[in-house]
Amino acid sequence: MREELQKILAPFKGEKKDVIPMLQAVQNEYSYLPEEAFESIAEYSGVPESKVYGAATFYSQFYFSPRGDYEVKVCLGTACHVRGAAQIMESLERELDICCGETTSDYKYSLERVNCVGSCALAPVVMVGDDVYGRLEPKKVKEVLDKSASEV
Ligand code: FES
Repeated sequence: MREELQKILAPFKGEKKDVIPMLQAVQNEYSYLPEEAFESIAEYSGVPESKVYGAATFYSQFYFSPRGDYEVKVCLGTACHVRGAAQIMESLERELDICCGETTSDYKYSLERVNCVGSCALAPVVMVGDDVYGRLEPKKVKEVLDKSASEV
């Protein structure tokens, strides 16, 4: 992995200001930040590893464990919340047997919460990858998961 990381980091000058773009580049490649990334970025930029790690934890865009093939995002914005988004989340957690923020053991699905995705008229809304599913009911979440999985 070290060589792969060096290739990913090579286009950057390795300046302090490159730390976040380098973290983004690594995550684009692996879909999360492997532990080795912090050491490699620290060496390349001269920024202490603890600070590189600290920078990554500051931003919610970064993930520290492998992600599933499908990102399932439950909107918990106001419009979705008042239309039962919490029950949709509970139903997905039950169906996938994981909690919000986790990934299934087969790395098929990651479940997370988001705020308004701009489809309030369709509340409550769930996104699977780029697909938006609106006016969902808890009993329909399995259907949505099956549909997304069959579109491979
Ligand atoms: S609040 Fe859920 S789409 Fe706007």
